[in-house]
Amino acid sequence: MILSPSLLSCDFARLADELAALKAAGVQWAHLDVMDGRFVPNITFGPPVIAAMRKTSTLFFDTHLMIEEPGRFVEDFAKAGADLICVHAEADRHLERSCAAIAQAGCKPAVALNPATPLECVRYLLPQLYMVLIMSVNPGFGGQGFIPFCLDKVRELKAMITAAGARTLIQVDGGVTLENCAELTAAGADVLVSGSAFFGHPPYAERLRQFQARCGA
Ligand code: DX5
Ligand code: ZN
Repeated sequence: MILSPSLLSCDFARLADELAALKAAGVQWAHLDVMDGRFVPNITFGPPVIAAMRKTSTLFFDTHLMIEEPGRFVEDFAKAGADLICVHAEADRHLERSCAAIAQAGCKPAVALNPATPLECVRYLLPQLYMVLIMSVNPGFGGQGFIPFCLDKVRELKAMITAAGARTLIQVDGGVTLENCAELTAAGADVLVSGSAFFGHPPYAERLRQFQARCGA
């Protein structure tokens, strides 16, 4: 199990310190939530802030783009220092093209699906996807409750990936807690995003250890 803490719940005035604290705690991924006020009803940050973070951190930047027509900005996020770029199926009419562009730019391609979006959207892309993100809340805000049917969705996606002979990772984002993380990894989740259940509970090394212990990782 890889834990990818969502910086949406950290102190934005101390981003460099938060990144350093994550690294010191043994965390390897940082989940960066980019929101445009169009695809989701909230605005966060974009490439300039990520480029500034990149200068201070060697963490794996797991970049979740909650923006319309993300294909327009693939180059910008790659140049800013994203390691993985995840685009939403609902926001992109040309998903295959965007995923190919992400790989071409030297980043790992991923696709996110909102809770009600069918898995069928990614079936033919699996061989070229590093990861599929199953949204388990409606995107836009931290601190929301996990939508229960998303657990079945993770199981079904795992079966689809296995049947396809693909190596695609499954990420779950939204409402992940110490209480539900074990059933998510048992269902097939490889990467868990946690915002409010992580940053509200220092010290970070201890919180990471608690997640790992619950998931048997
Ligand atoms: C929601 C974001 C999530 C969010 C998760 O739109 O994509 O990454 O920060 O926060 P929690 O873990 O609090 O649900
Ligand atoms: Zn996210």
